[in-house]
Amino acid sequence: MGTGPARRRPHRTSRPSSQRHRHPRLPAHRRRHLGAGAHHPGVVRRRVEGGRRPPPPPPRPQGAHPRRGSHGAGPRHRVRPRQPGPPRAPRRHPGRTRRLDPRRPPRRRPRRATGRPARHLGRDRRPPRRPVASPPVDRPADLTDPLVRRRAELVKWARDPVDVLPAWVAEHDFRPPEAVFAAVHRVADEGAFGYTRRAAALGPAYASWARRRHAWEVDPELVTWHVDVLQGVVAAVTALSEPGEGLVITPPIYFPFLDIAPTTGRRQLEWRLRRDDTGWHLDPDDLDAVLSREPDARVLLLSHPHNPTGRVLDPAALARIVEICARHDVHIVSDEIHGDLVRPDVEFRPLLTVPGAAERTVVVTSAAKTFSLSGLRCAVSVFADPDLRSRVLHAHPPLLLGHPGRVGIEATIAAWEHGADWTDGLVELIGRRFDRLAERLAAEAPAVRWHRPEATFLAWLDVSACGLGPRPGATLLERARVAVSEGVDFGEGGEGHIRVNVGTAEAVFEEICDRLLPHLGVAAGGGA
Ligand SMILES: Cc1ncc(COP(=O)(O)O)c(C=O)c1O
Repeated sequence: MGTGPARRRPHRTSRPSSQRHRHPRLPAHRRRHLGAGAHHPGVVRRRVEGGRRPPPPPPRPQGAHPRRGSHGAGPRHRVRPRQPGPPRAPRRHPGRTRRLDPRRPPRRRPRRATGRPARHLGRDRRPPRRPVASPPVDRPADLTDPLVRRRAELVKWARDPVDVLPAWVAEHDFRPPEAVFAAVHRVADEGAFGYTRRAAALGPAYASWARRRHAWEVDPELVTWHVDVLQGVVAAVTALSEPGEGLVITPPIYFPFLDIAPTTGRRQLEWRLRRDDTGWHLDPDDLDAVLSREPDARVLLLSHPHNPTGRVLDPAALARIVEICARHDVHIVSDEIHGDLVRPDVEFRPLLTVPGAAERTVVVTSAAKTFSLSGLRCAVSVFADPDLRSRVLHAHPPLLLGHPGRVGIEATIAAWEHGADWTDGLVELIGRRFDRLAERLAAEAPAVRWHRPEATFLAWLDVSACGLGPRPGATLLERARVAVSEGVDFGEGGEGHIRVNVGTAEAVFEEICDRLLPHLGVAAGGGA
């Protein structure tokens, strides 16, 4: 166990990069449809309540979009205004993308369960699994339908009044891979909603994903499952420490971590990030100092990559952290939920690939952030040491932690089995959002200080020079009608900051910038 081979993301090298964005095996109508939303910002923007009509786009020089074919724009793709007539029946699948191209063949409906016993069922034969189809290239469609999201009461979209645009909770708005939809539809078609043993397949599915994405060899037998990442984190922290002992966190930090020590009777200790001209850092010497000062510290809880700063610990820092924790007899709980969303030029190493980490480390993760599946409630804890696994597993009453449901399990497995190309597409798309944010901040709000994140779809902005008061997020909600996350909620170091989620459709993102940036100038007479 432990260190994986040096080669990262081997699947990426399997196709020459010149071919990576072509869709040679897709029929022409599918190729035209991919990314349709991205090419029609006006269509998306008109659906955003409270959004202003966009000005007409400036004429583009010829050849400015080498990948947009002659079918990429034009009246055929526009949504026609509704004609008056008899009322329509409600759409069966309101969350699905509307067919924009009338010549595109209709999707085949999956066959329905007939209710008759299957003829092939013998005494010891199982029904064959319907294969989960995944298109050869599956990219996140740049489609956000606020109406559907509000109707579904997704907290990101439904918490605030309809004229507010959401850029707060860490959830992106992109349509998950088709394989996820196929898996969820299959569960519904089968109607097999009873207790299930399918969670056992999460181990092999995650092991395969970890090998392909992170060159990390995971033993599927040492993967356990639970309902969400925070549950796994709290289960590990409480298993590996006693009440009164110390839990080290790294503020400014994903704010639910600030509740763990107070609500479980542990003592909260802080290893704070430092900021210099190159960005936010965790200095391992500071950890050594905290642990030397606090001999009852038992667990270090990491967000790796770090939410909210988007910082990724480099291999040298990881090795030092493991060495320091071993010296002070401290366990590490590493929340790696953002680990797939790392910039291609940055090296991300799961903590369990660091030599010496196995006996003291639990990695907790899920498909929820990468594929936007948070509501499906399914997560895993990964161990490399059977004794540690058993210690965490047996520390709690067996019935306390619950079990993920079958829909979440199947969706997660499908995402890990078929979502690699899609994830590459998402990382590229997030990169484009950050390019654009950098461009717009430099041009329109140079008073904002920030460091481009190495991971996540979250921008951590220092707006302390903008005169927005002690809670800049609240001020911006009022003045700009954009909901961002408030920096002070992330603990020490969050003062004067906001966290902005860029994981949304291009038109929504531009509208968020249009609304926020006029309020992010230098305040007359100084800072906050
Ligand atoms: C670092 C981190 N951990 C955990 C979570 C929550 O995950 P879950 O809903 O699976 O508990 C989030 C969500 O934003 C997160 O950013």
